[in-house]
Order: sequence, then structure tokens, then C-alpha cells
Amino acid sequence: MKVKGKKKSEIRNPKSETFHTSSPEETLELGRKIGEGLKVGDVVALTGELGTGKTLFTQGLVQGLGVKGYVKSPSFTIVNKYEGSLPVYHLDLYRLGDVNEIYELGIEEYLYGDGVCIIEWAEKAYSFLPHGYLLIKFFYTGERTRKIEITQR
Ligand SMILES: Nc1ncnc2c1ncn2[C@@H]1O[C@H](COP(=O)(O)OP(=O)(O)OP(=O)(O)O)[C@@H](O)[C@H]1O
Ligand SMILES: [Mg+2]
Repeated sequence: MKVKGKKKSEIRNPKSETFHTSSPEETLELGRKIGEGLKVGDVVALTGELGTGKTLFTQGLVQGLGVKGYVKSPSFTIVNKYEGSLPVYHLDLYRLGDVNEIYELGIEEYLYGDGVCIIEWAEKAYSFLPHGYLLIKFFYTGERTRKIEITQR
């Protein structure tokens, strides 16, 4: 059975792919590869505990998008903007509390803007995310190893 071009099994179990990286460089490289394929309107939602690699992976994403220079964690500024082959908005919601704070940040402007939107601690903003976003979950599996699960939502 198909619903809007999707098989029923695909709706129950959205396609996901799992990667295992064994160094920070491998996580960076995975980010780069995915970044190369992003286009205007894409939203990348990153989840995972502290230090699991969300910011490092974001550095890869923005490198893949052609941004030159260093990407820092926006924990203190909440939003950083970069110019690559297209505008890139990097949000870190760690310090934000409820949905009102996230709304007041103007999240919709970044989600529905003129570029790509990458969000760390995206679980805080699930209710705002548009259909079709890329959910990337990070898991600590060892000092230098991470499991990274990518699903199209
Ligand atoms: N395989 C790996 N992939 C990613 N990072 C790794 C890996 N192995 C070790 N690390 C280390 O884990 C740390 C990941 O830090 P990073 O700032 O990217 O995490 P984060 O998820 O953004 O944390 P936070 O929630 O505090 O923002 C880095 O110090 C990195 O060197
Ligand atoms: Mg981070």
C-alpha cells in the first residue's frame, strides 16, 4: 500500500541510516559529505548528550557547504550565521528553556529562511520543525567512538 508515494512500512519506520565513527576526523568527514548535499530550506536537527560531537559534525556540514574559516559552538550567542554556497544558520538551543523562548528567538525566520538551518539540542524545538527535516542523533559509544543515526522525518 502507498500513501503519497510512500509505502506503509516506510511511514511506520522512516528510513534511517546508522554510522559508526572511530575518531573526531571521521565525524567531521561524515558531516562534510552530508553538507555537500544540502540545499536552501533544509533543516538539520542534531540531538545527543554533551560532548557527543554535534558541534564537530556541524563544522563538517558547514565546510561541505563551502564556508571558509572556523565554526565555534554558538552556546553563548545561540545563533551564528555563515556564508557559504548559501547562508547557513547554526543554532544551539542548550541554554534555552521553554518553547516561548525558542519562539521569541525567531526560530521560524531561520527554519523558513533563505538558507540551511542547523540546530543543536533540537529536541527542544521539535514542535517547530518542518516536515522532511534531517534528524541526526549522536551517541557516545567510547572515548573516540560515536554512533550517528540519520533519519529523514
Ligand atoms: N568519533 C568522534 N566523533 C566526534 N567527536 C569525538 C569523537 N571522538 C572523540 N570526540 C571528541 O568529542 C568532543 C565532541 O565535542 P562537540 O563540542 O562536538 O560535542 P557537542 O555534542 O557539540 O557538545 P555540546 O552538547 O556540549 O555542545 C570533541 O572534543 C571531540 O574531539
Ligand atoms: Mg555543541
